[in-house]
Amino acid sequence: MPQLTPLKIKSFKKEGRKIVTLTAYDYPSAKILDTAGIDILLVGDSVGNTVQGKTTTLPVTLEEMIYHTEMVARAAQNALVVADFPFPYCQLGAGEAVRAGSRILKETLAGAVKFEGGEKRAETIAALTEAGIPVLAHCGLCPQEIKQSGGFFVQRESEREQLFRDLRAVESAGAFAVVLECVEEELAKEATQLVSIPTIGIGSGVHCDGQVLVFHDVFGYTPVPGKPLKHAKRYSDLNAILTIAAQCYAQDVRNGEFPDDAHSFKGAAKKTAE
Ligand code: KIV
Repeated sequence: MPQLTPLKIKSFKKEGRKIVTLTAYDYPSAKILDTAGIDILLVGDSVGNTVQGKTTTLPVTLEEMIYHTEMVARAAQNALVVADFPFPYCQLGAGEAVRAGSRILKETLAGAVKFEGGEKRAETIAALTEAGIPVLAHCGLCPQEIKQSGGFFVQRESEREQLFRDLRAVESAGAFAVVLECVEEELAKEATQLVSIPTIGIGSGVHCDGQVLVFHDVFGYTPVPGKPLKHAKRYSDLNAILTIAAQCYAQDVRNGEFPDDAHSFKGAAKKTAE
């Protein structure tokens, strides 16, 4: 199967084929998701929360995004790899954005970048796409604006006009698809009908052209127990699995049951450590 491209992903909408997206941040998890047939591996700036243990995505740097994206892109044979623009690269204008975007494509082999913001950032998106840097836009709730917005709010009827202007603007600027974050279901349905590019929803209901979720939420790999996010369905409980495995290992070491004969090198012959 040839590796998916932004244009192929765009064509899924006409074909009525749902776009399956998950975040990924390292080589082994990316390999698993790629082999499982996930269409897009998004190296989200959510790496700040999920991997670095920070409370927002704002501290994530361009260097860190390049570091994680390179690992994910090396693992992906089928999926399109998309790297997030970290704060404040969506806000610095076209020149900085093209410089950052071209570094991402050159240094990581990613196929596209993700870019938060709609109408007010459309010129920058156009500069990126004109420079040959494919853009997955991101409208609705934009986590990089958390300090200004004061929280993560679901986008409802009162945001309709701005949301629709944002979607039309990113479509005209050449984005190949758009992430729609936390938009009330009926509004997301209308938004999806409004534009020719696919909408990839997170917390935006079933009518979007695709879905994206965060790896750690989906697989239950979150160290803080607490209530799961409403939109994030959990498909496994890695927390519990890893806790039990770690306890078994600790017990074996403390009881002298590990390493046993099967895991020890014995005899005089020279061997490789395999
Ligand atoms: O950073 C991220 O993981 C994202 C997704 C939640 C869409 O932006």
